Amino acid sequence: MKIMEIEGGRELTGTIRISGAKNATVALIPAAILTDEEATICNIPEITDTEALCDILRLLNVDVKRASESVIINPQNMRNVEIKEEYSKKLRASYYFMGALLGKYKKVEMYFPGGCSIGARPIDLHLKGFEALGATVENEGNKYIVAAEELKGANIYLDIASVGATINIMLAAVRAKGKTVIDNAAKEPEIVSVATFLNNMGAKISGAGTSTIKIEGVKYLGKCFHEVIPDRIEAGTYAIIGALCGNPLKIDNIIPEHIDALLSKMEEMGVELDIGADYVTITKQDKYKATNIKTAVYPGFATDLQQPFTVLQTQATGKSKTTETIYENRFMHIPYLQELGANIEIKGQTATIVGPTKLVGCEVVATDLRAGAAMVAAGLTAEGKTTIHNVEHILRGYEQIVEKLTNVGAKIEIKEIE
Ligand code: UD1
Repeated sequence: MKIMEIEGGRELTGTIRISGAKNATVALIPAAILTDEEATICNIPEITDTEALCDILRLLNVDVKRASESVIINPQNMRNVEIKEEYSKKLRASYYFMGALLGKYKKVEMYFPGGCSIGARPIDLHLKGFEALGATVENEGNKYIVAAEELKGANIYLDIASVGATINIMLAAVRAKGKTVIDNAAKEPEIVSVATFLNNMGAKISGAGTSTIKIEGVKYLGKCFHEVIPDRIEAGTYAIIGALCGNPLKIDNIIPEHIDALLSKMEEMGVELDIGADYVTITKQDKYKATNIKTAVYPGFATDLQQPFTVLQTQATGKSKTTETIYENRFMHIPYLQELGANIEIKGQTATIVGPTKLVGCEVVATDLRAGAAMVAAGLTAEGKTTIHNVEHILRGYEQIVEKLTNVGAKIEIKEIE
């Protein structure tokens, strides 16, 4: 088991370079098996989720060559075997193999995906989409068998603009016969990235990034090369840390537009931002104004940034509110922030934060990935030592977090304990 120790209260100065997007990478790797030739993906983040997906590729006898920040995937000797629970439960995104294998082989056998426990997280919309394309779904316990004689394009309306369902249906539809239209599709940048990747292979997808995506099925997908977009959630997390400790902190290699909602809220609070073409530089101010946020699908305020943002709200003067609308259980970081000294009350899906409060280091737990990011932001802000347990959650999504923060002056280390 690993713990993270942070000596807080230090100013952070310098540049943090943002890695490739986790949520794009975890869809691109399964999507790569759709090629009939070879796919090269670069700017891949070195996170444990990437490794878990490469392990699934190896299980399927796909040739995987890893080099620094890139992966070459060749599925020419691939076998469509069952994806066992020990593989699928390591991460949420294992579910993208459902759409990809169904698209390629018209059959997939795999277990329910894992991932952070932030709510019920059903996959009913993914399955309904596959059924609309002509597949049947059998389900015994945690195991799913999805199969079709033939996949046929269909008009699919998503009841919720789900990121996972949009991408998964797209993966199955690229090799279906005829035209598929996904309405009320999710519009996140990661969806555009996956559509661009598939189009580079020869797929015919239009409208990605809008709420209507059209896919004309094709028979053959060729060789392709793709560069992963910068991680907007990693960028947002470090931008929040910049507002808490930056003097100044530059967050580099980002697409600022992808974190517009966060940057606007930070400006509203009085955070000093210098926004460039591919960076934002932040200098901590002595006083911030309280502000309210409500999570929403893209381009709204990202639910993944809600947890680290709470830490900034604890340092603002007055009463701030955060309303979580995407997941039922995404306030698990709050009890630990309270232990650090924050004044927060939760009622239903809204947390009310009264600040500013001094945070003092103590023992906390990263209950999920972004709760872990919140603990890091809090630990860097708090006086004294903060020890974070269940660090594995953080390492699923933040590449070289210790090195990146140490380079800008943080005192942070990961220790192995019994
Ligand atoms: C993805 C991201 C996650 C982010 C989330 C919302 C990945 C690997 N994860 O998760 O980091 O927090 O988008 O931006 O990219 N839902 C259903 N039925 C379904 C599918 C979803 O009810 O079949 C519900 C979910 O429970 C949730 C909401 O729809 O309440 C949104 O989920 P979705 O957009 O699918 O999120 P994920 O793809 O799981």
